[in-house]
Amino acid sequence: MSSATIRERSSKSNKLQQAQRAQAERKDQRSMEHEAQRAKRTTSRRSFLRTSVAVGAATTISSGLLTTAVPAFARASGTSSSGLTKGDVAILRFLAAAEIIESDLWQQYNELGGIQDKEVPGGSGSAIYTRHLLKLDTDMSQYIHDNTEDEISHFTFIDAYLKSQGADPVNLDHFRHLPSSKATGAQQIGRLTNLMQLTVDTSWWTRYRSRTENPDLGDTFAQAVPGLSKGQFPAIPRSDDDLEPRDHIQAIANTAGFHFGFIEQGGSSLYPSLAQRVTNPEVLRILLSIGPTETSHFQTWHDKAGNAPSLTDPKSGLVFPNLNAAPFGGQDFQTNLIMPEPTVFLNRKFPPVSIIRPTQTEGAAMGAVKALTDDGLFIGQSPEFLALLNDLAQQADAAVRGA
Ligand SMILES: [Fe+2]
Ligand SMILES: [Fe+2]
Repeated sequence: MSSATIRERSSKSNKLQQAQRAQAERKDQRSMEHEAQRAKRTTSRRSFLRTSVAVGAATTISSGLLTTAVPAFARASGTSSSGLTKGDVAILRFLAAAEIIESDLWQQYNELGGIQDKEVPGGSGSAIYTRHLLKLDTDMSQYIHDNTEDEISHFTFIDAYLKSQGADPVNLDHFRHLPSSKATGAQQIGRLTNLMQLTVDTSWWTRYRSRTENPDLGDTFAQAVPGLSKGQFPAIPRSDDDLEPRDHIQAIANTAGFHFGFIEQGGSSLYPSLAQRVTNPEVLRILLSIGPTETSHFQTWHDKAGNAPSLTDPKSGLVFPNLNAAPFGGQDFQTNLIMPEPTVFLNRKFPPVSIIRPTQTEGAAMGAVKALTDDGLFIGQSPEFLALLNDLAQQADAAVRGA
């Protein structure tokens, strides 16, 4: 090919590229104009509200849930192309609160029984408590550490995402006034949650083993550790006095083991329950991506709780039964049945299916608040804290998909 021909072809090629670039720029411009117009229409069609978390007096909370429009630019230039509805924001804000609460309780477990490092700083560990946790699995400290880090990442991400969308994040710092454990190894700082007076619902154990029942169809389930579901028990040593005798501190470690499963099965249900009322595809993606990590935690804890030694706490009288022996044992209690048994779903006419349960969406957020309250986590918390939590849950439960 002659050099003249090459120059001619090169020139044609440049002209073609210029034309293509110009066309692409025109298309981008039209697309931006279209997006701006769409955002404008959407803004006027819906009232995009954000709520302001008013921390402080109850009167401030009840009257201070201020509503402000999410700026159109926040949606047009944010990571979401279609904007958030009021319901999307309410669901994310409730989940942020739930994740802050989870982080607070996991942090307390990590300080005494996990691994204290730069990923999850704070505390210096309780050697005796840790040793008894290790009876459930030799990797318990690592798992506690990783679960804690995950929860911190959940609320930190949701918080950042809410901000990116022009919505207010949730801040519960004002309510961090519950006492820390006095046991050696715990930080002496204010807490949101109380791990020293728990009433642990252990019916998740039998719920996930049932092949014929589902809480969404009105069924109820037996307790794996009946004693834990009545009375109040510590899941961390309250002071160094709790470190002996041996079966007492083991009962505390066992309580933690069953509490881990209780907390994470709750998260496993909460995300799919709320996802059913999300509108924005990106918010749905967030819920569908975080939710299964809760189930990953739950699966781990389900396995470990089964290794809790059977014993009677000499101080409290709390009994951890042998779940593999009569009157326990069998399909409902056997400790190696850790995967969700197939069960009825939606309607008893369908064949059994292995599923998360419950996933009923009606009242899911309020149900979660009730479960955490009944658990004793908020014993000592202020009425304002509970009012705020209930308010966030009610707003999340009021979300309507597509509205
Ligand atoms: Fe979480
Ligand atoms: Fe969790």
